[in-house]
Amino acid sequence: MSISTLAVIGSQWGDEGKGKITDFMAEQADVVVRYQGGPNAGHTVVVGKEIFKLHQLPSGIIHRGKTCILGNGMVIDPVVMQAELKELLDRGLTDDKLFISDRVHLIMPYHKKLDELEEQARSGGKIGTTMRGIGPAYVDKISRLGLRAGDFQNENALQAKIENILKIKNELFTKLYGVPGFTMENLEEECLPAARRLIPYICDTSILIDEEINKGSKVLFEGAQGTMLDIDFGTYPYVTSSNPVSGGICVGSGVAPSKVGTILGITKAYTTRVGEGPFPTELKNPIGDKIREKGREYGTTTGRPRRIGWLDGVALRSACRINGFGYLAITLFDVLSGLEKVNVASAYSHEEGTLEHFPANLHILDKCTPVYQEFKGWDDDISEVKNFQSLPEAAKNYIKGLEEILKVKIALISVGPRRDQTIVIFNKLFQ
Ligand code: IMP
Repeated sequence: MSISTLAVIGSQWGDEGKGKITDFMAEQADVVVRYQGGPNAGHTVVVGKEIFKLHQLPSGIIHRGKTCILGNGMVIDPVVMQAELKELLDRGLTDDKLFISDRVHLIMPYHKKLDELEEQARSGGKIGTTMRGIGPAYVDKISRLGLRAGDFQNENALQAKIENILKIKNELFTKLYGVPGFTMENLEEECLPAARRLIPYICDTSILIDEEINKGSKVLFEGAQGTMLDIDFGTYPYVTSSNPVSGGICVGSGVAPSKVGTILGITKAYTTRVGEGPFPTELKNPIGDKIREKGREYGTTTGRPRRIGWLDGVALRSACRINGFGYLAITLFDVLSGLEKVNVASAYSHEEGTLEHFPANLHILDKCTPVYQEFKGWDDDISEVKNFQSLPEAAKNYIKGLEEILKVKIALISVGPRRDQTIVIFNKLFQ
């Protein structure tokens, strides 16, 4: 049996431009699957003159005829989903090939409230979450107190489940936080009708994906967030509550490891992060400001200005190892034009020696200073360059330097938001 699957994974702190690359690769795919995260993600996809901002739906939804799957590893906000679907339907797209896992957990209004209260309670040590209820929804999943999409297929049992959940949650709200709890009526008003509207899309998506793979369909796994936000491998506790890394694909979509083919890592040509947490290569200076403005580095989901830094080769090297990247795609490469020099951190210097891999402990990271490899900058606007050979010599050297630092081949270089602003070095990514 020949397997044709491709995973697109963020290798930094999210916002790597995965939306553009998954959209680009979705043209070749038959099926697009999301496997973790929820409305904390924000993908901007530009098609001609149209801009689509997606949060929960896979990028494939913009391409007619593609099967789009929201896997069990996601957490879905039914109200956000309803709004996203309405917008797409109003704009002439269809939902006839959209499927949602019966095992997917739903984000309820009390999760969003808890996200807010927990952030306030952390006071100085805030994580800077997107306030979309992500963490509390995953907590409920693990503590076996969650509501799954499939629960909405049995209305009688559902009522009893929600009543039980509210009893426990309301203790927290009233006794720990001293705020009013939620009633069944609140939920009925705020989100239950939206959740019921998901019923027609529900099925066992693990079976569906497996059938598609077995009949030779090209299946694209679309990661959200990024490796450095991974609950296990990111800068804990300044992370999200799921596993964006490639290992998350299997548990988050019910697909066997042997059926995950090529893994494509996405990285910006520099680094950004939103929210709090360590950021060794951060540029709190006019170069950082220039990159922020040129790259329009403001959050798709929250509008927050993103923190900017040089490319962190140490974090990327770890991402290559953990995810098993076969290739990398470099995004926002055009943003670097006009800089006198461009730096890449190839190692960290620490009092106990040089580090080539990202440390687990923040107290070690705090004492690390990046060791930069300096590259000559280039002035030319490269946003309409169509092939690698036509790039300025300095830009080519930067790309080759990166391949050397990371020991991974670069397959795609994005030089602008449009689909045709993509330099293709290697395009046979579906294995
Ligand atoms: P949460 O996922 O809302 O719990 O937020 C946890 C951390 O992950 C915060 O630092 C967020 O800013 C960050 N985060 C979550 N989703 C994204 C994303 O799609 N892009 C970038 N950062 C994200």
